[in-house]
Amino acid sequence: MNHPPGAVCVRAPGKINLALRVGAPDEDGYHPLATVFQAVSLHEDVIATRADALSLTVEGRDAERVPTDDSNLALRAARLLQEHTGITAGAHLHIVKQVPVAGGMGGGSADAAAALLACDQLWDAGLDREQLVRLARRLGADVPFALTGLTAIGSGRGDVLTSAMVGGSYHWVLAVQDTGLSTPEVFAAFDDDGGTHAPAPHLDDALLVALRGGDPLALARHLVNDLEEAALDLRPELGDVIAAADRAGALAAVLSGSGPTVAALALDERHARSVAAVVQEAEVAREVLVVTGPVPGARVLEQVSGS
Ligand code: C5P
Repeated sequence: MNHPPGAVCVRAPGKINLALRVGAPDEDGYHPLATVFQAVSLHEDVIATRADALSLTVEGRDAERVPTDDSNLALRAARLLQEHTGITAGAHLHIVKQVPVAGGMGGGSADAAAALLACDQLWDAGLDREQLVRLARRLGADVPFALTGLTAIGSGRGDVLTSAMVGGSYHWVLAVQDTGLSTPEVFAAFDDDGGTHAPAPHLDDALLVALRGGDPLALARHLVNDLEEAALDLRPELGDVIAAADRAGALAAVLSGSGPTVAALALDERHARSVAAVVQEAEVAREVLVVTGPVPGARVLEQVSGS
């Protein structure tokens, strides 16, 4: 793709949750999480160019569903960086989307992480990774992970990260739905299902051991999502998606984040393609994609010199 002179292009990944354990909400209504994020090869690209003010355009998957007003998380990220640094320069942000909107894959969070890094470069703000992560946390619980990428354990609200050791890479089949699910609504359904009495969230050591070993068969036994029941209450047909992945021979299938995307684990790429073909034929998803993980977090792809 040709970018205008002086453009900064940053790529940030979408994520799936290999485990998502959820505790009872705190006084702010937020839920303590114990989660394992994995960044996968479905990306958001943000191309930032110099401008007098802040503005935004979007193309790609679900582009028409992305708000381009002040509520947009990428614009909020740019504004937060301006406020934090006192920089008055503006930027035009152009987002090229691959991650579905409201799919439980952190697409908006990836946009925010990419916008932070792109504007930092564009404006020569010179923030280090730690400062960017601190700003990211203020934008949303999943934004820090989109900066760091790979595979990480998230605690707190999902925003306190430690990296996880992972052997090899994993092949996933993603069943993407037509209509997204609202994260707050899924958490509210979790509370209605008894989540207000949920114990403190805890990750099973066996999951982390399986990840280190790089054996998808071992990992498959430990995929878990405490929001699955709530998402199924709101969207019963997701049960058909999980059943279709099971019938297609996936090692296991799990809801990603608050859904509705379902991630099915395969043995290798060839197996992933065969699972994907069967799920596609079952007509339970708008799109069926094959991705790998882990992949890196937000990174500058290229910077064209000039002004
Ligand atoms: O942090 P973020 O803006 O992505 O969260 C969206 C919504 O999801 C929150 O407003 C809250 O309702 C819910 N949430 C939660 N507990 C978390 C993360 C998110 O209840 N740990």
